[in-house]
Amino acid sequence: MAKKTITKRSWAEPFKIKMVELLKMTTPEQRLKSIAAAGYNTFLLKSEDVYIDLLTDSGTNAMSDRQWAGLMLGDEAYAGSRNYYHLETAVKKFYGYKYLIPTHQGRGAENILSKCMIKPGDIIPGNMYFTTTRLHQELAGGIFEDVIIDEAHDSFNLHPFKGNIDLNKVEAIIKKHGAAKIPYICVATTVNMAGGQPIALENLKALRKLTEKHGIKIILDMTRVAENAYFIQQREKGYSNKSIAAIVKEICSLTDGATMSAKKDALVNIGGFLAVNDKKVFEEARNMVVIYEGLHTYGGLAGRDMEAMAIGIEESVSDDHMAARVGQVIYLGEKLIDAGVPIVQPIGGHGVFIDAKKFLPHVKQAQFPAQALAAAIYTDSGVRTMERGVVSAGRKANGENYFPKLELVRLTIPRRVYTQAHMDVITESIEHVYSNRKKIKGLQMIYEPKYLRFFQARFKPI
Ligand code: F0G
Repeated sequence: MAKKTITKRSWAEPFKIKMVELLKMTTPEQRLKSIAAAGYNTFLLKSEDVYIDLLTDSGTNAMSDRQWAGLMLGDEAYAGSRNYYHLETAVKKFYGYKYLIPTHQGRGAENILSKCMIKPGDIIPGNMYFTTTRLHQELAGGIFEDVIIDEAHDSFNLHPFKGNIDLNKVEAIIKKHGAAKIPYICVATTVNMAGGQPIALENLKALRKLTEKHGIKIILDMTRVAENAYFIQQREKGYSNKSIAAIVKEICSLTDGATMSAKKDALVNIGGFLAVNDKKVFEEARNMVVIYEGLHTYGGLAGRDMEAMAIGIEESVSDDHMAARVGQVIYLGEKLIDAGVPIVQPIGGHGVFIDAKKFLPHVKQAQFPAQALAAAIYTDSGVRTMERGVVSAGRKANGENYFPKLELVRLTIPRRVYTQAHMDVITESIEHVYSNRKKIKGLQMIYEPKYLRFFQARFKPI
């Protein structure tokens, strides 16, 4: 018999499980009732009616024993908590920004940044919109302009850095409006709405060169910066021997400041911050945070939350952690590709995104195919996913719907929470829904909130 040589080496979780949370199993009848009661919106389901929760990777991560131990070291003083200083040290050490303002979560930082930096009529170019980010820009009187490369809008295009910025689009905006109208360019890492697609360092460097010439700042949405660094390590020339920590620091060094939702990469259940290098912006933001969040040394967080975040930031830039984290997402994505399910490719960093237009070609975009598909997946197996299509995109200032090219259902993977067996069960459910896809009908919206409608909108089957 020929000797078997082993060439493949799998990743495995670089942790073991110390405590578990029991899940409730439901019946198809119960799920049909639950989704109808939730107005066919997975945001309105009760968590206890969910089996595997892929709604989001935001605040749903498992903390380490070190982080839990950190909670006990919370200094709950109103002012000058020692945990604030720990967090400040972590942000300087791992991200390199000079000044820190903690906030209760990412959108708190977006609110303060937008109010400090945007004047009515300003233009804010960005690599694809994010829901809360764009809304805060608009509420401050700004106008968002999408400058992501065209490839990002095509779910099957295999460009390795679909989060890249099209510099020609940026130049055209500068030419049309003038640099004085552009307070900053908002650069997101692993672009959420594009399907978790990274930006290359080469592209960010080129953008830096261009914006420096015009005196335009770059503000990073660093919510998933370590996942982006992982893709750079795996795909970009010259970075395969660099650590995630070094790449993260390099990304930050090319920007003037950042907003962070620490509920994602930084492995906490709540928290965020605004970080800047400019003292004047810092001083204004530090003044503003007391109006909206809390004193500048806690920004809406408990001392213990800041301690857990400081520890989470360090854990998030570990190479082993990131290989397993993104490895799990890729494992799920590859299984779905093998099953013939149309998903956004390359597979993203924080989740797998199903192309609902291709999955349900018989449902018109005005009938919310991604919303209908998310409801169908829940009904099949109790797996909760999220719509990222026409409902999430909302309406323009003139009241018309945005009809985004990408109409997606996001299977978002919380960090350090589920096992490979969960990924297998999820795949089997999606495969089952896929083989019965012709039975899925579109939806009609029967209740629509004014802001960020996807959170609370209600639907009924057509
Ligand atoms: N920026 C990005 C890229 C995000 O994904 C989020 C949140 C935010 C900013 C806002 O941060 O929630 O802490 O206020 N994304 C979550 C999600 C809600 O499910 O994708 P937040």
